[in-house]
Amino acid sequence: MARIVRPTAYGTPDVLGVFELRIPRPAFGEVVVGVRAAGVNPIDWKLYSGTFHTVDDAHKDTAGVAADALPALGLECAGVVTAIGAGVTGVELGDEVIVHPVTAAYADYVTAPVTSLTPKPATLSWEEAAGLMLSGTTAAHTLHAVSLGRGDTVLVHGGSGGAGLMAVQLATARGATVLATAAERNHDLLRELGAVPVVYGPGLLERVRAAAPDGVTAAVDCAGTDEALDVSLELVADRARIASVVGSDRRVTAGVKVLGYGPGQDAGTEVRMAARAGLAAGAGAGELRVLIESCYPLYEAAQAHKSGIAGHAPGKLVLVP
Ligand SMILES: NC(=O)c1ccc[n+]([C@@H]2O[C@H](COP(=O)([O-])OP(=O)(O)OC[C@H]3O[C@@H](n4cnc5c(N)ncnc54)[C@H](OP(=O)(O)O)[C@@H]3O)[C@@H](O)[C@H]2O)c1
Repeated sequence: MARIVRPTAYGTPDVLGVFELRIPRPAFGEVVVGVRAAGVNPIDWKLYSGTFHTVDDAHKDTAGVAADALPALGLECAGVVTAIGAGVTGVELGDEVIVHPVTAAYADYVTAPVTSLTPKPATLSWEEAAGLMLSGTTAAHTLHAVSLGRGDTVLVHGGSGGAGLMAVQLATARGATVLATAAERNHDLLRELGAVPVVYGPGLLERVRAAAPDGVTAAVDCAGTDEALDVSLELVADRARIASVVGSDRRVTAGVKVLGYGPGQDAGTEVRMAARAGLAAGAGAGELRVLIESCYPLYEAAQAHKSGIAGHAPGKLVLVP
């Protein structure tokens, strides 16, 4: 038997339960991976908290789509291949892999299409490997969307978060000048990664102007606040060079690029899939840091979510089965 964590209802993290299942078997083109660590991301609690679904008793969301089942949790993990389905080539039992995209990775075992596997660099811990891809591919997508390159000055909102830390590092590697918003306690870390830190909150526009007197050419919003949108619109002349990973009506109306999986958003599937090998290579070579804030046992997923919702020190939260 194998354990899986999933919500029992829509609500707070207290709705999460641990259930036993048979160890899954791979279908055609799939593998089964024994999970060694699973990354935790805000999307995980948004899926069952009501962020995306204003649900009624019949589990109808705001778009009127009936949710037959509560969502599976866990969109990234790292582990060892334990079973291989028909039609799969190039993978051996015992291979150490990063798995993303995937669903239901909050578990001892997960099934995934072989296309979701990236070899795990030996130099990465299980926790680092588990926390690399969702934030990393998202950040790569943002920089692609705003066509970031050498000579640009980019403002990363939420630069101390999972996605933001990746965006800061990848933008620096592209030769851009990087400004990043964060709470003051996280500024030393951002400086270490090559960014100019700026405190978010009232007066942000003036602080950024003072820190970038020659102007800002692009903005990446990993914070999702009205302030992040307003400051980006004020500073960046070309709206096509503002990308947000947090959807909102105002962002759509303003004509900035909204990246993600909601209606009308750009999922960037090809860009994200293509970014995985480079992210693994960069992290494996020590050029891209995956910070780990805390590891929780799988059965304490609710605690991890409470910490994520409350806000925490920089770095990924990771579940370890
Ligand atoms: N569309 C996509 O594909 C996609 C992918 C990944 C993430 N996301 C979304 O992007 C957001 C960030 O995800 P994450 O994993 O980076 O989360 P995270 O690790 O929890 O980071 C949150 C960030 O927000 C900052 N922050 C908190 N309050 C703020 C405020 N009032 N103003 C500005 N910044 C503030 C935090 O800064 P301090 O800690 O320094 O206070 C931190 O940098 C989430 O909403 C997530 O759902 C979307």
